Amino acid sequence: MATIVGGLTTSHVPALGGAMARGVQGEPYWKPFFDGFAPVHRWLDAVRPDVAVVFYNDHGLNFFLDKMPTFAVGAAAEYRNADEGWGIPTLPPFRGEPGLSWHLIEHLVEREFDITSCQEMLVDHAFTLPLKLFWPQGCPVATVPVAINTVQFPLPSARRCIALGKAVGEAIASWDSDQRVVVIGTGGLSHQLDGARAGFINKPFDLQFMDSLVDDPEWAAQFSIPELVEKAGTQGIELLMWLAARAAVPGPVRKVHGNYHIPISNTAAGMMALEPA
Ligand code: DHB
Ligand code: FE
Repeated sequence: MATIVGGLTTSHVPALGGAMARGVQGEPYWKPFFDGFAPVHRWLDAVRPDVAVVFYNDHGLNFFLDKMPTFAVGAAAEYRNADEGWGIPTLPPFRGEPGLSWHLIEHLVEREFDITSCQEMLVDHAFTLPLKLFWPQGCPVATVPVAINTVQFPLPSARRCIALGKAVGEAIASWDSDQRVVVIGTGGLSHQLDGARAGFINKPFDLQFMDSLVDDPEWAAQFSIPELVEKAGTQGIELLMWLAARAAVPGPVRKVHGNYHIPISNTAAGMMALEPA
């Protein structure tokens, strides 16, 4: 059976793609963020995952407002990136793992998650940049994208995203394969890009949220979606991806590393690596 080596979470601000392309990670503005990744690169070298299951939210590249699945699972041999208009380089296609994709899809439908299965799926910055952050030399793992709608209301609750993550974790653990799987969640932390609260960041909430993922991973489920938007911002609700990724890692976890820096672009930028305790 497959092994879950741990969970990784990170913000996915598009400007990070420009910084990596320009090679300016060591400049004062970027360094406090990028420095957080060195211990995680060492951890990845040690735990050697073969596959990454990536919870992320599409921002209008693959799903637009006309058709918006709440949960979508990729089932392709390859996932292409495309220009989203952020002025960052388009990354080469990512390798899929259709065997795990279909196993996940079957398990989720069996567990009464009404997901959309996607045999073609463009992946946006929320998928591509975290993989580049974790593997700057090029992505060595096969991938399974799992998209959660955070763009068009109504959004799935925190409790529902935790349940999805748990079901994904069960599916990975029951996959008849000797491959090693890392679960990734991208987005957040607090930020709001539009409206009267544009620029809103909530450091105390973010730090409490990051702590909760280690010892009390259902803490955030006490809040409704409007309450989470109030605390984390309209786009900070992307923290739902962190909840799903954490829930996919079974049992208690140990924090391998964490980092938090304000701001990158308009966003409180966080990162965590967790492994089964
Ligand atoms: C920014 C953050 C995001 O999560 C995103 O998807 C796009 C932009 C930002 O802070 O610029
Ligand atoms: Fe985003």
